[in-house]
Amino acid sequence: MENALQFALQNREGHLAELLDFLAIPSISTQPQHRSDMVEAAQWLAEKMVDACLENVQLFDNDGHPLVYGDWLHSGPDAPTVLIYGHYDVQPAEPFDLWETPPFEPVLRDNYIYARGSSDDKGQVYVHVKAVASYLKTAGTLPVNVKFIVEGEEESGGHSLAAFIPENQELLAADVALVSDTAMIGRDLPAIVYGLRGSVYTFLDVTGPSRDLHSGSYGGGINNPLNALAHIIAKLKDEQGRVLIPGFYDKVRPLLPEERELLAAKPFDQDAWLKEAGSPEIWGEPDFTLVERLAARPTLDVNGIIGGYTGPGRKTVLPAKGHAKISMRLVPDQDPREIAAQYEAYVKSIAPPSVKVDVTIASANAPSISELHTPAMEAAAVAYNVVFGRKPILAREGGTIPVVGQLQSFLGRETVLMGFGLPDDRIHSPNERFYLPNFYRGIETSIHFLDEYGRRSRV
Ligand code: BES
Ligand code: MN
Ligand code: MN
Repeated sequence: MENALQFALQNREGHLAELLDFLAIPSISTQPQHRSDMVEAAQWLAEKMVDACLENVQLFDNDGHPLVYGDWLHSGPDAPTVLIYGHYDVQPAEPFDLWETPPFEPVLRDNYIYARGSSDDKGQVYVHVKAVASYLKTAGTLPVNVKFIVEGEEESGGHSLAAFIPENQELLAADVALVSDTAMIGRDLPAIVYGLRGSVYTFLDVTGPSRDLHSGSYGGGINNPLNALAHIIAKLKDEQGRVLIPGFYDKVRPLLPEERELLAAKPFDQDAWLKEAGSPEIWGEPDFTLVERLAARPTLDVNGIIGGYTGPGRKTVLPAKGHAKISMRLVPDQDPREIAAQYEAYVKSIAPPSVKVDVTIASANAPSISELHTPAMEAAAVAYNVVFGRKPILAREGGTIPVVGQLQSFLGRETVLMGFGLPDDRIHSPNERFYLPNFYRGIETSIHFLDEYGRRSRV
């Protein structure tokens, strides 16, 4: 391990230069015009995996974007296997004019790497590629067996991995999955996320008359699809944040006092959080704390509404159609398929017959909870403590990483989410960034983790 750590230290500049190359590829999975950039990013990563002395490096093509796989399995029969997951796809960079420097021209400023995907998730997954390279390029061996699976559809709700996992059980067999795609609490306070919300994403299409109509001649005699859409949306959630879909809360696991204590112990500056969000006030279910609302309670949000005349000036028109993108965040033990069905049935039941309403379920991903007391969790805590000088906080997060739910049903619950991002990295927003010291400390933490986990699970 000493040699690996030394290698990581001596090659910091080179590792950073490589990450900047990776970040320059606009691998936006949801935008069809970036299809070739997706392939380029996957091939770039595969090359670096080969360079890291990983074996069986290959791209798995599927209907969506390629999956990048690589392994090193020579640690001996009694050594455990770690499956390292990450994603090389990124969110769209729009609105471009809010970026201080272009999203795909990565730059260093004030010790941060600025680029789309720097924190979510290219910087974080590259940490592990370089940790493994640091071992294999020095000692030529690793304390554990490793398998990498890096996907290109995480941000776009793709289905390739969900299909790939059950079809490739042997290829992906492992003792634990290691995922770095979450944030720490602060610069010097690491966190292991043990719970993630699931998500259901839906499209609502409301159709009225066969064409846009004069609102004077027809208004009041024909239902307006946008008014109808607004009525439907208003019935999905009350003013205090409670979702009104019948059955929605039936399977929500109650928050036990011990867990509420654990969540309350998370260092969290509510005022700073609100200031960063830039909203007038904190809002949500009255019976739950803000931390609970954000990570351990389900919710529903309208992400976008499209319809009608939106150009300059006035147009007196009764639009023919309206659309909304509506999503839900789920917690254990809500079943995404069941929730999707309840949602669809409820929307249909409140839709007036004066318009046509179509519901599309675009994606459905399960929430997840990791077991807290496992050798891998303990190894991760030790590794963080060595590098950051602090034991990590155990936290739940409101975001979704679909693969975690998928892997938990396949591996059992052994998943460790070791995040190196920071809460103000602005993931999915303009000026996304990754704290440079965390890139280097992440590589060192990964090196320690592999060593510590290898030792713990051999005895
Ligand atoms: N890395 C995030 C998930 C995340 C966000 C974890 C914040 C912890 C804190 C991931 O890349 C992401 O954005 N997931 C999507 C998934 C969705 C498209 C199914 C999300 O949560 O919206
Ligand atoms: Mn991510
Ligand atoms: Mn993301």
